[in-house]
Amino acid sequence: MRTGKRPLLLLVMAFVLLAVTACGQSASTDSGSASSPAGNKADAKPTLIYKQSCASCHAVDLSGKVGPSLQEIGSKLSEEEIFEAISSGRPGMPPFEKRLKTEEIHALAAWLANHTASDEGADQ
Ligand code: HEC
Repeated sequence: MRTGKRPLLLLVMAFVLLAVTACGQSASTDSGSASSPAGNKADAKPTLIYKQSCASCHAVDLSGKVGPSLQEIGSKLSEEEIFEAISSGRPGMPPFEKRLKTEEIHALAAWLANHTASDEGADQ
C-alpha cells in the first residue's frame, strides 16, 4: 500500500532537468547594446543572429574578416542570392540551413539586402 516517495522524486528530477536545459538554451540572450547600422525597423532579431552566427567571420560592423565585407552586399546580391548564400554556404563559409530557422535566414537576408552602397546609413 505504500506508494512511497519515488514518483514524486522522479517528477522533481525531471523538472530540474527540464529547467536546466531550458536555461542552457536561453542563456545566450545578450541585451544587444550596439544598435544596428542601417536602422530599419525589424532590426533587433537579425542583428542578434548576425552577432551570434556571422560576426566571427564578417565582423560586427560587417566590414569583413575571414569573410568579405557585407557593408554593401545589398548592391551586389539580391535578397534571394543572399538567402541562398547563407543557407547553402560559400567556399569557406558553412551552410546555415540546418543551424538557423528559415525565418531567421529570411530576416538576415532582408536585413543584409538593405545594406547598399547608396544607402550609406552606415553610421561609423
Ligand atoms: C566561417 C566563417 C564564416 C561565417 C561564420 C559566415 N561566413 Fe559568410 N562568408 C565567409 C566567406 C569566407 C565568404 C566568401 C566566400 C567566397 O569566396 O565566395 C562568405 C560569403 C558570404 C556572403 C556572400 C558575399 C559576396 O560578396 O558574395 C554572404 C551574403 C555571407 N557570407 C553572409 C553570411 C551570413 C549572413 C552569415 C551568418 C549567418 C555568415 N556569412 C557566416 C565566411 C563566413
